[in-house]
Amino acid sequence: MRAVAVFPARREVSVIDHPEPFISSDTEASKTHVKMRVLDVGVCGTDREIISFEYGTPPEGFDYLIIGHESLSEVLEVGSEVSSVKPGDLVVMSVRRPCPHPECVACVEGRQDFCYTGDFTERGIKQHHGYMTEFVIEEERYLNPVPRELRNIAVLVEPLTIAEKSLEQLWTVQGRLPWQSRRRAVVLGAGPVGILGAMALKVEGFQVSVYSRSSHAEERTRLLGAIGIPFIASETHSAEDVAKLAGPIDAVYEATGAPSVAFEMIKHIGPNAIFVFTGVPPLTGPASVDTAEIMRNMVLNNQLVLGSVNASPRAFQSAIRHLGVFAERWPGAIEAVITARFPLERALDALRNQGGGIKNVISINA
Ligand code: BGC
Ligand code: ZN
Repeated sequence: MRAVAVFPARREVSVIDHPEPFISSDTEASKTHVKMRVLDVGVCGTDREIISFEYGTPPEGFDYLIIGHESLSEVLEVGSEVSSVKPGDLVVMSVRRPCPHPECVACVEGRQDFCYTGDFTERGIKQHHGYMTEFVIEEERYLNPVPRELRNIAVLVEPLTIAEKSLEQLWTVQGRLPWQSRRRAVVLGAGPVGILGAMALKVEGFQVSVYSRSSHAEERTRLLGAIGIPFIASETHSAEDVAKLAGPIDAVYEATGAPSVAFEMIKHIGPNAIFVFTGVPPLTGPASVDTAEIMRNMVLNNQLVLGSVNASPRAFQSAIRHLGVFAERWPGAIEAVITARFPLERALDALRNQGGGIKNVISINA
């Protein structure tokens, strides 16, 4: 079967022929595993870093990594002990797999998104082949069933889980305020993670604005406008302007990976605010920020800044539920997040050419 592989040592990315996944049917493992055909795989910034050889690690014994971690698949065969899915069902697989250390309580509890050791693997990213291929096998427990109605957009579940995990933490933090607080949120960045996060925050009752660079923004501004989320351009508005326009900011969902924008915004968040970082910036060295001003504001305003990566099983459930809500409320807007679909042979075009588009998807099987 074909697969999109990255060879870091050779600095090469190509569509290769890879053996179909296989588990002998008389093993214990075969009972709990599920074989799927991959339908859609989304492309994100992490994939672009991997194809630039800046991130990503092949599995042991391989000189290449099959990439792809945002996926939608259809179940083909199930092991004898599998009960939550059957052939024909649609599923989205999670990305991270637990580390092998029994002392890592996070991984032992199935919360490898909080792994302590760093020895977790991630499908399509770190020491585990991904989904940009025709068939995959996975354990039942990493599968999340998706309703048929979401066939066209369910590949957006994984990027939406980033916001869902952030929201889980936001609710936990908000629990420290024993009243319904003012709920104004600013999303930094109008890429897919930002747009999906803005939608989730809106559905959860926040008054949301998106603050972003406006290059290639026409489509995004229109999409957000259609669902009542104002777009504020960073070329023409400072972080201070945003705070004035939006009103006291209770929550910031950062989805740009741009430290300068983020640290400027931190200075202008409101009392008791929470600021969530999700972007992973390249390491560009020190920059100058007024640390005293930030520290002073944070203390005097009870603010909290946190980083969040990967997602819990519950975040996948919430993402699937929210995607259904988006599809009902804003059918045009959610479909418009996927701006281009490519066949597997053209995966490299999908990875390289973003153009003005929002989310490129590789449609592997119809
Ligand atoms: C993925 C996460 C992953 C992270 C770091 C993101 O693109 O969505 O699942 O944990 O990259 O590798
Ligand atoms: Zn761990």
